[in-house]
This record gives sequence, C-alpha cells and structure tokens, in this order.
Amino acid sequence: MSERGNFGTKIGVILATAGSAVGLGNIWRFPYMTGQDGGAAFIIIYLVCVLILGIPGMVAEFVVGRHSGANAARAYYNIGGRKWSLLGYGGAITSMIIFGFYSVVAGWCLQYLFASTMGQLNGDVTYVQHYFKTFSSDPLKPLFWTVAFIIMTHLVVVKGVRKGIERASNILMPTLFILLFIIVVASCMLPGTKSGLEFLFKPDFSKVTRSVFLDALGQAFFSLSLGTACLCTYASYFNRQTNLVKSAVQIAGIDTLVAILAGLMIFPAAFSVGVRPDSGPSLIFITLPAVFQQAFAGMPVLGYIIGVFFYGLLVLAALTSTISMHEIGTALFYEELHLSRSKGAWIETIVCIIIGVFCSLSCGAVDITVFGKSFLNFCDFITSDILLPLGAFFTCVFVGWYVPKNIVKDQITNWGTISSRLYGIWLFVVRFICPICIGSVFLHQLGII
Ligand code: PHE
Repeated sequence: MSERGNFGTKIGVILATAGSAVGLGNIWRFPYMTGQDGGAAFIIIYLVCVLILGIPGMVAEFVVGRHSGANAARAYYNIGGRKWSLLGYGGAITSMIIFGFYSVVAGWCLQYLFASTMGQLNGDVTYVQHYFKTFSSDPLKPLFWTVAFIIMTHLVVVKGVRKGIERASNILMPTLFILLFIIVVASCMLPGTKSGLEFLFKPDFSKVTRSVFLDALGQAFFSLSLGTACLCTYASYFNRQTNLVKSAVQIAGIDTLVAILAGLMIFPAAFSVGVRPDSGPSLIFITLPAVFQQAFAGMPVLGYIIGVFFYGLLVLAALTSTISMHEIGTALFYEELHLSRSKGAWIETIVCIIIGVFCSLSCGAVDITVFGKSFLNFCDFITSDILLPLGAFFTCVFVGWYVPKNIVKDQITNWGTISSRLYGIWLFVVRFICPICIGSVFLHQLGII
C-alpha cells in the first residue's frame, strides 16, 4: 500500500473525478444516442435517470471506496466478504471492455487532431463522410492510433495518482468547458438551426420506443462512470473532509452540463449542414469539421485554431476518463497480486490493447460481428446496456441492505461532522428506488412489463 496516494486539494478531488466522468461519453456518445433515440424525449428520461438513480448510486460507490481505502475488489471484500468482492472484480472487467472500445474512438480523435492540423478535413459534408468511412475501415491507421492512445494512458497512470491525474485535470477541464461554449455559440449562429434546436428541446414522446429507457439509463451510468467500481477506486483516494453527497451532486452537474453543451454544439450544426441525427457513432466526426469550416467561414484561421484545439482537448478529456478506467485494474492487480505498480499497469494495458485491436478491426477492415453487431458496437452495448446497470443495481443493494448502518452514516456525515439531513432520503432511494427502477427498466426491455 506504500504507493497509494491521496488527492491533494479539495478542488483536485472534484476535478479529477469529474475528469473521469467527462469524456467521450458526453461529447461523442451522448449526441449519437440522443440522435438515435429521438432527441428531447430521450434527454428528459436521461436527466431523470441522472437525478434519481445516478447521483444516489455515485454516493453509494463513494461510501464503499472511501471506507476501505483500497482497490475495488478489496473494498467490497472488506465489508461484504468473498461474495461481494465479485462486484469489484466485475467492475474491473467491465472497465477493461470499455477501455478497449473507448480507445478506438479516442484514436479516431487523435487522427482528427492530426488531420485538422494538416488541413486535411477541408471539404463539404459528403467529403468528410467519405473521409471518415475510408479512415475508420482502414486496417492499419486506426489500429495505430488506438494503441498509441492506450500507451499514452499507461504512461500517465504509472506516474502515480496525485502527480499524473490531478495536475492534468486541473487545467484541462476548465479549458474544455470554455472552448465548448465558444463552439456552441458558433454552431447556433449557422443558418437553419431551428429544427436542430427543436429536436433538442421539443419532446416528441411518440418516438419513445422500448429500448429508449434502457439506452437512457445506460448512457447516464456510462457518463457518470457509474457501475464499474471506478468511482469506488477514486473515492479510496478521497480524504476525510470530502463531502460525498456534495461531490456527487457537483460532478453530476458538471457532467450533465457538458453533455447538454455537446448536444447544442452538434444538433443545430447537423441540421444546418444536412447530417442525419441518427448517423450513429460517426455523428460528431462528420458534423464537427463542417462547424469549424462553415461557422468560421469569414475567419478561416480562427476556425483552424479552434478545430485543432478542440480535437486536442477531446483527446485529453478522453485521457482523463481512460486514466480512471486504467486505475481500477492497475490498483487491483498491484495490490491483490503483490506486484509493482508498473507491472500491474502493464497487465491492464496489454489486455486492453487486445480488446482494442479487435474493436478497431471490426469497424470495416475485418468482419468481426457478435449477435449481428460489429465487435465495437457489441462491446459498447454489453457494457452500457447490461453490465453498468447490473453493477449499479448490486452496488445499491449492497450499500442499502448489507453494509452496516454505522459505516454508511459515518461516510455520509463525515463521522458526524456534517449535517445528516439528506441521509434518510438517500438511504431510502438507494434501498428501494434504485433497485426497483433499474430492475423495472430491465424487465421492460425484456418485454415482461
Ligand atoms: N464517464 C466516462 C465518459 O463519459 C466513461 C467512463 C465509463 C469512465 C466508465 C470510467 C468508467 O466518457
């Protein structure tokens, strides 16, 4: 345990955990799910999921993590014994699968950073669509960027918790926020954005199909990094003063704001330039180049600079998320297998490279399909729509019903030093509302209710 660190400052805790939450989940996945699932109605269901299931679920993971101050498997083991430690191991496996496919998308961002720097993305929408298709189905290029991205993550993680993660998040998060804001304004000033804004804000509940509920729930958990034991691992580095409830609310607030900003950045522009909102995972990659060109048509240099900066920050936002995914496995391997931190990190890195390679190749270069989905889409689906909700469900059951009440109360009230007003409501939600709602969404998806 000697290599364990603590997050140095109060704001460092929030920013690093928010750095884990904010990433491609907000800027790439949220717009594409919203586009596929019908717009505003999906967003409303998503917001309800964040509020009543996401925030209480985050607090539950924090409780387990900070109480134990150990890796995810040990954290659950310390309180619940062997059986419950499976939740920690399960979370580590889920996060490895996410890390694998996430790195492919982060690799696409790296390629876009390179291409926009070289001025290769200048052209109309048809050109950019063709560019994306040709690039993503190439056998070698995306593979190279995927592996490069995983190695980048590896290098940050072996540098240690405080130095690597905290320092990076302190600068990146606020910068990303400002840039997003500028692009939203530019995107909304394009001609013909009214239907894009209506798509985002005018709900049409007739578009809500059976799968929209599970998609919204999965997206909420994915975006908050909930259900993978990632929050539990980060909370093990929190200090005794961190207010768990307040932190969860702040992080969920930042995360949701970034997702909505991403929606505002993509949809007005997509409708303006004629990209279909249900274009799937390629949505932001075919819409954004058009924004940078057309919204800044009068000032091409500014468009160029903003484009390059944006892809750069997107890569860094993805990095602060993959650092947290990587940390779950690394902490678990080095503490449980008694290895050095660097060896633990290598195991995680190698497994994720293998998953990443298959995901990357499945995007067109080689036919790797599972249940009719490309391997990348399958990994995305199985984690977001099944493993994360299951992880969150069992975490809530564990914290609500099995963890001794004195431990839970100490964690929520910081050993009696802060108000316990919310304790009763939160406990009720975690014991009843979360398991019932998550369970019902599953049963609804299966057609049972
Ligand atoms: N929340 C991250 C994002 O939105 C993804 C993530 C999922 C990170 C699970 C850690 C664990 O990009």
